[in-house]
Amino acid sequence: LQKTIPKETGIDHSLDLLREGYMFIPNRRHSFQQDLFATRLLGQRAVCMGGKEAAEIFYDETKFKRSSAAPKRVQKTLFGEKGVQTLDGKEHRHRKQMFMSLMEPEQLELLHTITYKHLDLMTTDWEKESSMVMYEEAKKLMTRVACEWAGIPLWASELDKRAKDLGTLIESSVSMGVQYRKGKNARKRSENWMKDLIAQVRNKERNPEEDTALYTIAWHRDLQGKLLEPDVAAVELLNIIRPIVAIAIYISFTTLALHQFPEQKYKLEESEGEYYQLFVQEVRRYYPFFPFAGARVKEDFTWRGYHFKKGMLTLLDLYGTNHDVHLWENPDKFYPERFTDWEGSPFDFIPQGGGNHYLGHRCAGEWVTIQVMKVVLDYLVNRLDYHVPLQDLSFSMVSMPSIPKSGIKLSKVEKV
Ligand code: HEM
Repeated sequence: LQKTIPKETGIDHSLDLLREGYMFIPNRRHSFQQDLFATRLLGQRAVCMGGKEAAEIFYDETKFKRSSAAPKRVQKTLFGEKGVQTLDGKEHRHRKQMFMSLMEPEQLELLHTITYKHLDLMTTDWEKESSMVMYEEAKKLMTRVACEWAGIPLWASELDKRAKDLGTLIESSVSMGVQYRKGKNARKRSENWMKDLIAQVRNKERNPEEDTALYTIAWHRDLQGKLLEPDVAAVELLNIIRPIVAIAIYISFTTLALHQFPEQKYKLEESEGEYYQLFVQEVRRYYPFFPFAGARVKEDFTWRGYHFKKGMLTLLDLYGTNHDVHLWENPDKFYPERFTDWEGSPFDFIPQGGGNHYLGHRCAGEWVTIQVMKVVLDYLVNRLDYHVPLQDLSFSMVSMPSIPKSGIKLSKVEKV
């Protein structure tokens, strides 16, 4: 029996999306009492859906594709054009393999060492100041870490400028007006920086280590055996650097969680290490980051009696799925222990997308993110003493990406 997808009336709901932010899809899933509904966004019909089963079909590549799914606006700031996010089928798998080849255990181990080193170095500076703002410092920390790990030279004199541009790219992903122009300019400068590096590697002026992102991307060959176009190689190198710097947001939320749930700190201090994994997973589940992922219907199909028409824009509710009452007990409670019994489904816990890392569009940097968060968490719990002065510790559920409003100010920072 063919059913009609519940549809909200009105000409366009883009403004509601900006007004309701992370809760736009969850609010409507709740009010329709359905896992899916149809609406109109950016002047076109769109289906929004959430939950484990919805995630399962969203990541079925016989049903959905990515080409022409991301709005140009997002490509001009956050993603870049012609990158892995926009590819499908064989071409996508081949490009994705290039990214995943950088995520082997040895490289993650190296990332651990590099993160710890820079964190320890920066702490020496923080000790000298009366206070610091975690989000701002974490962006600089992660810019250093990202560059060293990727084989990119970074002069001390350019650190602030690069970190600022990378921060702007992340912060202006959903923006209009002045902030959007700032985002576009930051992308242009950052892509040029990447393009120069790729050119230097290709004409042998620069010889990065073979297992770095710079080397791998500069020499990657497509399915036709050709090197990537310089602007595409630049977009892909930035697809490594930019999201590593974005981990600064999770570092800020980790710091916030330690402050807001002080009992957690004792559990971490007592733990042999296993609890660190649970805590980091819970930070990624609990706090808002990416609200949803987008794709287009590849060929007409029917799911649960609902007809999905070829070409239709479809958004998968990432935040709402991580807070779905049918999947998580007391989803609005910060409770790391819930991950002890979690079965590890690739479709219910999806802060960085769902499905398979190698075959689908699930985030290539999920293990990198977890690794860095664990190093920083361990450092905050076991190596640092600090004070959290009075400040506005709220975070928005509307502006995307959400970043704690005060940036999390810490004072009297000292190594122990
Ligand atoms: C894709 C989230 C960190 C590299 C994605 C997607 C999300 C996401 C939601 C899209 C999934 C989809 O389209 O279905 C995040 C979050 C991060 C993070 C919240 C925390 C900071 C990273 C890191 C890297 C990275 C550290 C690289 C080292 C990528 C790449 C893609 C991607 C290359 C495109 C994958 C593809 O299209 O096949 N990420 N990510 N991300 N992420 Fe991340």
